[in-house]
Amino acid sequence: MFTTVAWVEGKVRFIDQTRLPAEEIYAETADYRVVGEAITSLRIRGAPAIGVAAAFGVLAAVTGKEFPSARDFLSAMNEAVSSLASTRPTAVNLFAALQRMRHAVDGGESFPPSELLRRVREEALAIQREDVESCRRIGTLGAELIRPGTSVLTHCNAGALATAGEGTALSVITAAAREGKVTRVYVDETRPLLQGARLTAWELVRQGIEVVLMTDSTAATVLRQGKVQAVIVGADRIAANGDAANKIGTYPLSVLAARHGIPFYVAAPTSTIDPATPDGDGIPIEERPSEEVTHIGGRRIAAAGVKVFAPAFDVTPASLITAIITEKAVLRPPYHESIAAVTRERPAAEAAP
Ligand code: MRU
Repeated sequence: MFTTVAWVEGKVRFIDQTRLPAEEIYAETADYRVVGEAITSLRIRGAPAIGVAAAFGVLAAVTGKEFPSARDFLSAMNEAVSSLASTRPTAVNLFAALQRMRHAVDGGESFPPSELLRRVREEALAIQREDVESCRRIGTLGAELIRPGTSVLTHCNAGALATAGEGTALSVITAAAREGKVTRVYVDETRPLLQGARLTAWELVRQGIEVVLMTDSTAATVLRQGKVQAVIVGADRIAANGDAANKIGTYPLSVLAARHGIPFYVAAPTSTIDPATPDGDGIPIEERPSEEVTHIGGRRIAAAGVKVFAPAFDVTPASLITAIITEKAVLRPPYHESIAAVTRERPAAEAAP
């Protein structure tokens, strides 16, 4: 197996996802700014993995240093939190993780820096541990929805590379495959950055699951041909009413699934739910640099001077989502009720834009 992101001997260690599948290269850093850059450049990506990496980034900012006072410790930590919060705006897991790190040192002015460090380390490791467990539960609960002989379509990468555990959508798929219920997985290549072709296909091939890779625009054809019995995707942020932001190209899949009477499942931990955002219109959608569309592999494929629209995510309306598979329960419409039931206890991620 590979490790997406981990805390190893005082450093953040992560697999460089921009190099996959050609090279399996790990990077190590004790600098939270390098973690921030890795998130921005998608060397670390996927909503839960971004949250875990950011928590470790904060931990790195206060590890191995001498702080004369709690105030110095907290100021170094706050600097890292603010910097990491500005990396990517859509995945709420980032803000939820940073908020947890902040809360871990609530009232911390009266503690020695060594105690603050202990708390920060505990919290970061708890965020990682909980994500591993959430992925496992999502797989178990989601696999119950899959009937024998199902071929699944997925988009982008919601696998182990996008989390600290076995993934979200891919955890469901691999758990159902272990039970012998999955015939094959149709994987959208996921333009422009090809997370499906580069990452999801790589993960599934390693697990010995039959994969059919296709261009994004082929999805309509395979659904029309009756080759797919379920669409399962991840999410970057789910609003209180169930509207779900995920990689650009997800929304059209939900429309296609409805047109062809196929269930459309979103698999995500409850840390991806943002009860403070009432509906999808309030989810900030990141726009990526135009070069990600005008160039492939560093080579220009579009006329110089062309205008580009490059949103990284789109929003699938709750009305097109059959169920949201979380680690706590499989949520069904009406989502404002089922979501409230699993998030009631939780404070909103106040740092989220
Ligand atoms: O831009 P990315 O690669 O970070 O986008 C990732 C996705 O859209 C995933 O589907 C989502 O984060 C869910 S990951 C479990």
